Amino acid sequence: MQAKPLVVRDLTIHYYTLHGVVKAVRGVSFAVGRGESLCLVGESGSGKSTIGLAVLGALPSNARVVSGKILINGVNILELSEKELEEIRGKEISMIFQDPVASFNPLFTIGQVLSDIIKYKLGVRDKNEAKKLALKALSEVGLPDPERIYNSYPHELSGGMLQRAAIAVALATRPSILVADEPTTMLDVTLQAQILDLLQGLRRKLGLALLFITHNLGVVAAICDKVLVIYAGSVVEYGPVDEVLLSPLHPYTKRLIECVPRSSVKTSRLKYIPGSLPDLRKDYPGCIFAPRCSEALEKCSRIAPKFVEAKPGHFVACHKAVKAG
Ligand SMILES: Nc1ncnc2c1ncn2[C@@H]1O[C@H](COP(=O)(O)OP(=O)(O)OP(=O)(O)O)[C@@H](O)[C@H]1O
Ligand code: SF4
Ligand SMILES: [Mg+2]
Repeated sequence: MQAKPLVVRDLTIHYYTLHGVVKAVRGVSFAVGRGESLCLVGESGSGKSTIGLAVLGALPSNARVVSGKILINGVNILELSEKELEEIRGKEISMIFQDPVASFNPLFTIGQVLSDIIKYKLGVRDKNEAKKLALKALSEVGLPDPERIYNSYPHELSGGMLQRAAIAVALATRPSILVADEPTTMLDVTLQAQILDLLQGLRRKLGLALLFITHNLGVVAAICDKVLVIYAGSVVEYGPVDEVLLSPLHPYTKRLIECVPRSSVKTSRLKYIPGSLPDLRKDYPGCIFAPRCSEALEKCSRIAPKFVEAKPGHFVACHKAVKAG
């Protein structure tokens, strides 16, 4: 059987700061197959972007991968030199971010950015051929009048158009993996839906392994096959999207779902999970969610729950959920 394009095993990442070592990612494992989409979900600060950047081999300089493996098409990128990583970035894995404006240098036209990538990553030296491929990449993401967009500077495009252009840049080199870190958060609701539709279509058409990062469970339902729920750097629940959203097992996932605003329920207040993320500089002997968990058992703060398959394909790390299942 062919290996999955993206496999992450027992990944642990620390940030070194003036105020101590932040243990941002704590033993995270997952895999994304060809044409599959996996959502990483969790509150702000839970470690989603850190995982996304690690997968791209682009962590900030104060971050250290303490342990684990990141296999991209079977190669552990943690063992590669910066030059070897540069080869893989763009060609085998690409990333799109929340703010499309920040993805572009304001001094270059969209066409210059695309043509350069096509030239350096795909080795297309002929100018006309590079332009042809760039225009194809722009029309593939549903941009009207690709010739005009090709000659435009980033500030001449709307937010939605610029995010489409960023997707065109990310996919022009035909990577097998796309990491999307909150790519719709800065767009209005209609544009969000359009970008999600576009990513779904491209994932199917190109057989992309899509790692989609979001704090929004509404978005998860629209785009993902599988969901990985992260709390304070640890995976607490994993399973098929319908299973996790309709029959959540972990109290944290349940609270996240309760916080999704429903248009049918009139309320003047947005719901939130009481309490805040724990201090990530510390270690916790028991369940890291225990101080915020309304369902905690006596042993929860003493003994860490194991991550186990509670139902076929549906995994959870919770003493109570496993006992109930
Ligand atoms: N460069 C850095 N130096 C020190 N700590 C960092 C750095 N980047 C992130 N962190 C810390 O690591 C933890 C995880 O951050 P991360 O950005 O991965 O979370 P996130 O889930 O992406 O949050 P958000 O939803 O707000 O984007 C947080 O406690 C954050 O403060
Ligand atoms: S292990 Fe205990 S504290 Fe942790 S989520 Fe489950 S019930 Fe709550
Ligand atoms: Mg983030």
